[in-house]
This record gives sequence, structure tokens and C-alpha cells, in this order.
Amino acid sequence: MIRLLTISAAVCLAMAATPLLAAEKPVDPYVQSNANAGVTPFAGDEMLRAFHGPQGVSRIVDEMLARVTTDPRTKEIFAATDMERLRRVLKEQIVYILGGKVDYTGRDMKTAHRDQGVQQTDFNILVEHLQTAMDHEHVAFRAQNRLLAKLAPMERDVVVR
Ligand code: HEM
Repeated sequence: MIRLLTISAAVCLAMAATPLLAAEKPVDPYVQSNANAGVTPFAGDEMLRAFHGPQGVSRIVDEMLARVTTDPRTKEIFAATDMERLRRVLKEQIVYILGGKVDYTGRDMKTAHRDQGVQQTDFNILVEHLQTAMDHEHVAFRAQNRLLAKLAPMERDVVVR
């Protein structure tokens, strides 16, 4: 009995120390839609398999974000960003575009980048870091290029004119 109580107390302490939900900051209301992802997804599962599934995408996004948020040329842009949210919705967006059975729950690209002051050179730097991350994940060159071709037109909504 005493042993059981000790275990329960230990479990309670562990629960108190770990927040139940990830601490994302609230954003202004918006209409959720897969159309917010900005492009039509690839058909079938060939592309998602080429990226080693959602886990592969997760590793790629984590590495790319680690790079852009520490690169002295781009890190200031992310200084006020809720990285918890960005990490989550960016993974959703890429898995969705690659043909995964997930919904993209983030904002459209124009709204998301409206006040970020992203320049053309920043866009190119992010793409370079994405390529490095895809290389490290051993994504085939052709599959890398097919994703980049989907992302390229988003530049008009991301970059400040
Ligand atoms: C094709 C390229 C890009 C894609 C697909 C993309 C995707 C996204 C997504 C999904 C979000 C989150 C939307 C939400 O919170 O609802 C976001 C936010 C953001 N992006 Fe991008 N992005 C791109 C390019 C860039 C570039 C080049 C930069 C700067 C180097 C950048 C900086 C940011 C920042 C700072 C935020 C956070 C905005 C906030 O704090 O509210 N993005 N992006």
C-alpha cells in the first residue's frame, strides 16, 4: 500500500512538471483550409516515401529551422516568432504537399509573412538550408527538385515587394 502511494505521488509530481499541451501562442482568428498551404499536393504516396514519411519531413524541418534561426543573416527575422507553432504547421504543410493524409491548419502564406520583412536573399538562404537538410536526409535529387518547384511560386507571397 505504501509502495503504491509512493508510485502515485511520483506520477503526480511528473505530471505537474510537464505541461499537458504544447505552449503555442494565440494568433488572430483565420479560416482553416488546406488551400492555405498555397499549392495543390502531389498525388499518390511516391513523394512522401521519397522523403521517408512524416518522420523524414520532421527531421528536415527541424534541421532547416535550426539553421535559419542561427544563421546570422536570417536569425533576426525569427526573433519574435512562436517556434512551437511554426515547427508544427510547417511540418503539416510539407507533409500535406507531399501527398500525406494530413490537413494543413496554418495561415495562408501572404498573411503569415505580411509583417516579416522577408527579402529575396532571405528566401534564397532558406532554400539553401532546406537543400542541405534534404541532402542530410538522403532525399533523392529529383524528389528534392520536385518539392522546390512547388515552393518556388510562394516567393511572391513571402517576399516583401
Ligand atoms: C516557400 C517558402 C516558405 C514556406 C513554405 C513558409 C511557410 C511558413 C508557414 C507554414 C508559416 C506559419 C503560418 C502560421 O503560423 O499559420 C510561416 C511563418 C513564418 N515564416 Fe515562412 N515560409 C517560407 C519562407 C520563409 C522565409 C524565406 C522566411 C525568412 C527567412 C520565413 C519566415 C517566417 C516567419 C518569421 C514566420 C513566423 C510569422 C509569425 O511569427 O507570425 N518564411 N512560414
